[in-house]
Amino acid sequence: MKIRKLIAGNWKMNGSLAANAALLDGLLAGVGAAAAEVAVCVPAPYLAQVGARLQGSPIALGAQDVSAYAQGAYTGEVSAAMLQDFGVRYVLVGHSERRQYHGETDATVAAKARAALSAGIVPVVCIGETLVQRDAGQTEAVVGAQFAAVAEALGESIDGIVLAYEPVWAIGTGKTATPEQAQAVHAGLRARLRDAYPAAAGVRILYGGSMNAANAAELLAQPDIDGGLIGGASLKAPDFLTIVAAAQ
Ligand code: PGA
Repeated sequence: MKIRKLIAGNWKMNGSLAANAALLDGLLAGVGAAAAEVAVCVPAPYLAQVGARLQGSPIALGAQDVSAYAQGAYTGEVSAAMLQDFGVRYVLVGHSERRQYHGETDATVAAKARAALSAGIVPVVCIGETLVQRDAGQTEAVVGAQFAAVAEALGESIDGIVLAYEPVWAIGTGKTATPEQAQAVHAGLRARLRDAYPAAAGVRILYGGSMNAANAAELLAQPDIDGGLIGGASLKAPDFLTIVAAAQ
């Protein structure tokens, strides 16, 4: 089955009105008729700016987090309906930085994924092991448990998500998983998706963690790597566009 790849930029907490405008100019000038689907996940205050600029373009709007709750007394939170109001198509949930610095548990991540789906937004569910866990031979178990929590909560609607495998030790460190290491985990996740629900075998599984213009082609050539979640390299238009072009 040929799956259309997705290349999603994760701007994290970077940008300004001026810097975003310049980055978007660069992306829109070069994106052309990309084979892959392209998205940028931007800080919440810039959703309106970026959404307006991307309207009618081939680049989709994404957010970096969503509340598990629908509305009400949750100061500082942004609901899925609010994201939908601004034309958001994708939202990251369970990024390792949210798990690590904001105490997000598997249960929180699952609830956020469900909230996104109920508003018609595709959750990009991030999972991945730390270096200590990898060295202890626990990669499969850790990633499997993170996946299982989401699969259990979503049931058959698991086929509406995007999965992102992001080994924590590779994020922002310049250390990428080798294509073989990544492929092995992705193949395991594909099997878990198929076991959870046959139609979910077509769920896209992105790789994230120091993917850049130099290493993207080799990673994206792996049979079970269906795209990339790009942090640092998504802030430079030429680098991001090189990655987009590598995704066939
Ligand atoms: P990186 O970040 O590409 O800068 O390693 C990826 C991510 O955290 O999504």
